Amino acid sequence: MDRIRTVRKAVIPVAGNGTRFLPATKAVPKEMLTIVDRPVVQYAVDEARQAGIEHIVFVTSRNKQAIEDHFDDTPELISSLSRSGKNAQISELESMLPKAGSVSFTRQQAPLGLGHAVWCARDLIGDEPFALLLPDMLSFGARGCMAGLMDLYREVGGNVVAVEQCAPEDASKYGIVGKGGTVRHGFAVTEMVEKPAAGEAPSNYYLNGRYILQPEIFSILAHQQRGAGNEIQLTDGMLKLSANQPFHAHPYEGRTFDCGSKQGFIEANVAFALNRADIGDMVFESVREIVLSHESRIRAA
Ligand code: UTP
Repeated sequence: MDRIRTVRKAVIPVAGNGTRFLPATKAVPKEMLTIVDRPVVQYAVDEARQAGIEHIVFVTSRNKQAIEDHFDDTPELISSLSRSGKNAQISELESMLPKAGSVSFTRQQAPLGLGHAVWCARDLIGDEPFALLLPDMLSFGARGCMAGLMDLYREVGGNVVAVEQCAPEDASKYGIVGKGGTVRHGFAVTEMVEKPAAGEAPSNYYLNGRYILQPEIFSILAHQQRGAGNEIQLTDGMLKLSANQPFHAHPYEGRTFDCGSKQGFIEANVAFALNRADIGDMVFESVREIVLSHESRIRAA
């Protein structure tokens, strides 16, 4: 087997329109909507860093400047917090600030699809394997999904994708992989299909938005035709790459919330809030009370 090259860089695409979340996303990027007290994109960056990623490439677009600002320094705010003695907030902001030169931004000029967004990062990634994290797919578990993916990658190399199981009737909403033989703590991928027609999914293992890909994907994406939803699909590009390179799947042991959907966003806020040491108990009581009074209103109706 070829030497397994270290994954140093990650791509985080943030150029989509967020149409499922209008009107909230008219002026605010969906990646800046908050889960408890931090924007959803911050969780993806933390997860990438915990997995050992050194450099992050954001593929952004017009009207998304708030994302660049979020990852920049805020000297006026820090001075103001310092004058009021808010040292805990200062430490938190400082710990989140990326090291100078460790983030890059490039623009996707039109939201032609995830495959096209990834292709826009080709010059900044260069000829090395890279991680890809879709920020609105939010990992919730004892360990970030990307760290487990890296573990499998270090053992098998090639391309690795994270998967979770969905209800069979939901398979047509996702990118689905076919399940081959067990390899280490994952399995070999036999096929990949984006949003399969009802009854045609090869399994119920869906791609949950975390990938490690070899740079050969870029030359495939350069010529990738539009696929499902009339978008240039990453899954179609990966299927082509799988003719020449191995793909393995890492079943994530946690849970992913699709924060690009209203339901997933609300579920994520509840799950992350319940897990927080500062507000978890209070939120538990409030959510319980809201659910109980909702139930009794339904019964009385
Ligand atoms: P989604 O398909 O969930 O994002 O892409 P979207 O297109 O913004 O969503 P809807 O369907 O309109 O509500 C997953 C990730 O890929 C990015 C998105 O910003 C999101 O973080 N993306 C998607 C791009 O960067 N460019 C694209 O052309 C499409």
